[in-house]
Amino acid sequence: MNNFQQKRKVAFVTGATSGLGLAIANQLANEGYIVYGGGRRQPRESTGANFTYVSIDVTSDTSVLRAKDFILSREDRLDLLVLAAGYGVSGSIEETPMEEAKAQFEVNFFGVARTVQAMLPVMRAKGGGKIIVFGSVAGKIGMPFQGYYSASKFALEGFVESIRYEVSPFGIDVCVVEPGDFKTGFTDARKKIAPENSPYREKMLTVLGIQERDETHGVDPAVAARRIVALAASRKFPIRISVGPLFERFAIWARRFLPDALFEVFYRMNYKL
Ligand SMILES: NC(=O)c1ccc[n+]([C@@H]2O[C@H](COP(=O)([O-])OP(=O)(O)OC[C@H]3O[C@@H](n4cnc5c(N)ncnc54)[C@H](OP(=O)(O)O)[C@@H]3O)[C@@H](O)[C@H]2O)c1
Repeated sequence: MNNFQQKRKVAFVTGATSGLGLAIANQLANEGYIVYGGGRRQPRESTGANFTYVSIDVTSDTSVLRAKDFILSREDRLDLLVLAAGYGVSGSIEETPMEEAKAQFEVNFFGVARTVQAMLPVMRAKGGGKIIVFGSVAGKIGMPFQGYYSASKFALEGFVESIRYEVSPFGIDVCVVEPGDFKTGFTDARKKIAPENSPYREKMLTVLGIQERDETHGVDPAVAARRIVALAASRKFPIRISVGPLFERFAIWARRFLPDALFEVFYRMNYKL
């Protein structure tokens, strides 16, 4: 390995086969990082993926450890871990089967926890690193008919707040990113639970229509990628940042400062509830 290669930072991005993770992995590679990007499927050639693909299913201990071993067979450290693997389940709280609710947490929450557990020893051994976890606006505001998705993202907020105290003595920074709507594969990958005879069906389909319209008119993932790459290079590493449409960033702000009842009125109006 020559001096130049030694100085290049090593990044691992999960969820790099589509959407936000793909854009971030590509942008990191363009900025000179050595990038490993993971997912269950290989990124299609048309995506222009310019990083090393790593097969990973974040719901499996064996798969996550195999991904770690693959990276460590080629690199002696990990400077940046971006955890973007995730998907959404939509449906009423009452009608979403428990196995779907658990599967949601298995990817969005335990998938992050499992990958962090596997990679932290590598970062600690080399004296530090940065971890960026993908939360959501839905992790700050409970979304109608996305209760289990919201809950999985709320859980990540607490996870990140807690872990920061534990790992900062080892030179490791952690941040949760809260995206608003971005135009990615997320909408097509969403699992929808709306039984024909459901008493929730009509309202759910109205709300889902609004949510999916906002997603398909969402921001280009390249915008988030630039922000994340700048964050990775920054010495200031906040607990959380929000990215995406101004209105949604405003909603996070409003959720924090408005009384609960007033915020609920505002959100009901937005979703015609
Ligand atoms: N798009 C938005 O508007 C939005 C808003 C807020 C938050 N987010 C969050 O941003 C993150 C990225 O989402 P996106 O919008 O980029 O969606 P996306 O285009 O559907 O990408 C999701 C990625 O997650 C990976 N993934 C899903 N299940 C996995 C598993 N079991 N193991 C490994 N990888 C898995 C997928 O890869 P494979 O299918 O190849 O496994 C894919 O690369 C998610 O955490 C999402 O919740 C997105």
